[in-house]
Amino acid sequence: MSCKFNPADVQGNILRGYRKPRVRYLMLEISDRAAARRWLTAATSGTGGVPQIATESGQRWATKPDTCFNIGLTFEGLRALGTPAASLATFPTEFVQGMNKRAIKLGDAGPSAPENWEQPFNEPARVHLIASIYADDVAQLDRVQHDAVGGQQAFKLLRVRDGWCFDGDYVHFNYQDNISQPRFAEIHDRDSFSDSQPMAPLGTALLGYPTNFEGLKWRIPEPEPLGYNGSFNAFRVLEQDVVGFEEYLTAAATELLEHPKVNELLPPGAEANIQVKEGQRLPRHDALREVIAAAMCGRWRNGVPLALSPDTPNPSPDVSRTKFDYTNFDDDGAARCPYGAHIRRCNPRGGQIVQRVANHSRRLVRRGMPYGPAYVHDPAKPRDPNEPKRGLLGNFIGANLGAQFEAMSCDWLNLGLQDPRITGSNDPLLGANEPETSWFDLPLKSGAPIRLRGLPRFVTTKGGAYTFLPSMAAIRYLGSLTG
Ligand code: HEM
Repeated sequence: MSCKFNPADVQGNILRGYRKPRVRYLMLEISDRAAARRWLTAATSGTGGVPQIATESGQRWATKPDTCFNIGLTFEGLRALGTPAASLATFPTEFVQGMNKRAIKLGDAGPSAPENWEQPFNEPARVHLIASIYADDVAQLDRVQHDAVGGQQAFKLLRVRDGWCFDGDYVHFNYQDNISQPRFAEIHDRDSFSDSQPMAPLGTALLGYPTNFEGLKWRIPEPEPLGYNGSFNAFRVLEQDVVGFEEYLTAAATELLEHPKVNELLPPGAEANIQVKEGQRLPRHDALREVIAAAMCGRWRNGVPLALSPDTPNPSPDVSRTKFDYTNFDDDGAARCPYGAHIRRCNPRGGQIVQRVANHSRRLVRRGMPYGPAYVHDPAKPRDPNEPKRGLLGNFIGANLGAQFEAMSCDWLNLGLQDPRITGSNDPLLGANEPETSWFDLPLKSGAPIRLRGLPRFVTTKGGAYTFLPSMAAIRYLGSLTG
């Protein structure tokens, strides 16, 4: 049976992003089961001073609320609430085990290994509920936090983490992000999104609906009010070595200048087409840095996709940021967007891949914001040993963690199984790379690509948790548990 779509039953921020500039996550441990159940019930209606959980509005908000409050529960959280064992047994294994135990699938080894994770994720059994507050400013975050967890006995606040948007949706490493997201026919107007990809079936993100797999639906946790309209989230604290990233670009560009085929990659004079600031002409070395950065992502840092504009981040006329595919190249497809580029690995769109049936099946809803101050690269400035910590607080949302987030992380990002030409290499931006063995191919219009080597790991996992994003009916169900 499919469930009937009722947006008011679905938590907000799943199908459509809030597009607020600030977020705060509250990592909570349930200290009083009965009080936590009462708190959940109160949060469904915003009574008793507890902030009301925001739901999907079904259409664009006429007036956006100042703040949006949502929750996700870990398996340990469901257990701490006293969810019956028969019901717990119906949850998928990866969620039951939790993110820490799935480290091998996620490439969380070495410095990213769970034993090195920061508090509270180094004690996963204590992380029960992750509440998120989206707001316009810190005063609003403080107010909602106070209403949510100030002076109550249901939870112990284990940690608070804040993220914020940089101008123009840029993230660390200085790329524009949040461009490509699944769109759902039930809430998005196809005409207002120029995207060449098929609309995602609701079952991509919600439990109880058809998925991209012919006639297949994910098993829904029981009882019905608990499972339907819920979703799963991989919350990740991903630390980014911004200095290391820029240093690598500099070193790789220096090496390329000496490469016998560099003129095929960037014909002499073509650096004039690579402007990062209007009217500013980059020296050849710096233009090569941008060519490498674009190849690693699959987009120039300003978001222009290589698939549509392989030679310049400033195409004239301008090109779409979303309406492209990897199928319609007249030359070797890689010469436009490398097979190993981050966005091509994560979403091969209609392009030819080994797992042909998986083309549109692993799509993830991404809701992330940077933490730490924006970094401005200054090649003249030596590395500061006290450089502030920077990274991404990421949410990777889908109806099935195993088939979407884990399959993407394992097969595509870290193993490169989608194309024999990249198998054995990791994602250049965030893969578990080691300089001794890593490589990334910069394709040329003809002949063998130029192979970059020595990529270090730029992104280290510092924590995270798998959470279940329950529907409003599910939150009421959990609030009404007794015993
Ligand atoms: C610090 C870590 C990360 C950084 C800096 C990063 C950066 C980016 C950037 C700049 C884009 C292009 C913007 C866009 O298409 O919307 C992108 C797209 C994407 N990323 Fe990441 N990302 C990170 C981690 C991850 C992880 C862990 C996953 C999944 C396991 C992931 C999955 C995706 C997906 C699915 C897309 C959209 C691809 C498309 O639909 O074309 N990213 N990312």
